[in-house]
Amino acid sequence: MVGLTHVALREVMRAYLPQDAFTIWPTEMLNSRRIPGENLETTPETMRSPFEDGLVPQILGNEEDAIAESVRRLIEWGAEAIDINMGCPVQKALKHNYGVALMGDANYAAEVVRMTVKNSSVPVSVKLRAVGSTKEFDELLSFVSGLRNSGAAWVCLHPRTAAQKRRGSADWEQIKQLHKAVDFPVIGNGDVQTVEDAITMLQETGCDMAMAGRGLAARPWMLWQLGEELGFAPPTGKEGQKAPRTPEEEGAEYGRVLLALLASSRRYFGEDLAMRKVRFYVRTTGVWLPFGNALVGVCAKARTPDEMVQGIEKFFSGPIEMSLRTELRQ
Ligand SMILES: Cc1cc2nc3c(=O)[nH]c(=O)nc-3n(C[C@H](O)[C@H](O)[C@H](O)COP(=O)(O)O)c2cc1C
Repeated sequence: MVGLTHVALREVMRAYLPQDAFTIWPTEMLNSRRIPGENLETTPETMRSPFEDGLVPQILGNEEDAIAESVRRLIEWGAEAIDINMGCPVQKALKHNYGVALMGDANYAAEVVRMTVKNSSVPVSVKLRAVGSTKEFDELLSFVSGLRNSGAAWVCLHPRTAAQKRRGSADWEQIKQLHKAVDFPVIGNGDVQTVEDAITMLQETGCDMAMAGRGLAARPWMLWQLGEELGFAPPTGKEGQKAPRTPEEEGAEYGRVLLALLASSRRYFGEDLAMRKVRFYVRTTGVWLPFGNALVGVCAKARTPDEMVQGIEKFFSGPIEMSLRTELRQ
């Protein structure tokens, strides 16, 4: 996720991963025209820690030369799979005919998968959106079959249409139908805000994995909660403790996450960029907090990271009740 799934937030999240669990970690979306010329070790979007596993960079692309060179460099960097973005609806992606634009041309989309697979020694997956309502499902199915025939190893479906962007509810029925209809793994995505949602998505749709975006960014300890539900060991260093559950426990944990994110971002990105990353994080995830807008203001006003720490500590000095669900708008 652009602006979010960078090394600093991944580090904060990983601290909540149950010891015996494994998941995949998508990067921010990376432009295949730019990757060949970047220093992957110092570019904020591709910085990584040597301790990370399961990294799956996501690329935007539609030209074989750029894709081939990007894939080669990303595998050298440590990619365990390559994901192709076919869901991004922003104008910049549409202008270049990638992102969700690829869903308008099934043959070319399949060709993009073929050229990526041809140049990759690791699995290639695709993240896509719904094409319309469940009535237009046959179109989605034939689109996905094309990707499958071109060598895609799995797909992740975010069943909101491009027009919906990220608002409104995600149509989980399409995840269920897709999983039933195809013979390769389907990851479900969209509107997983709580650990109960994650379990419901897995049970009701039968999908092979559930992917949470904004909800997991806001409550990274959802990984720990899910681990408790499924019988995993607690995260390292949290043995003998229970995951936060009540609104007050979750509110306090959000404050700890924010401070950890600022500290980690300072280490990786330096003071200025760290503050920008934290501001963006709060704008996206503060919607689960009462007075989340005030917290956005606190972070916007801070002139230095130390001022930001003081502002955050003050904001969380009293009890804050984090809500379980909110209406997702951005
Ligand atoms: C700030 C932000 C950045 C995102 N960036 C990407 C991206 O780079 N690639 C992608 O496939 N999806 C991206 N998404 C979409 C999410 O991956 C996800 O599909 C969407 O938010 C729905 O899941 P959710 O309801 O759990 O958040 C982004 C979403 C947000 C809010």
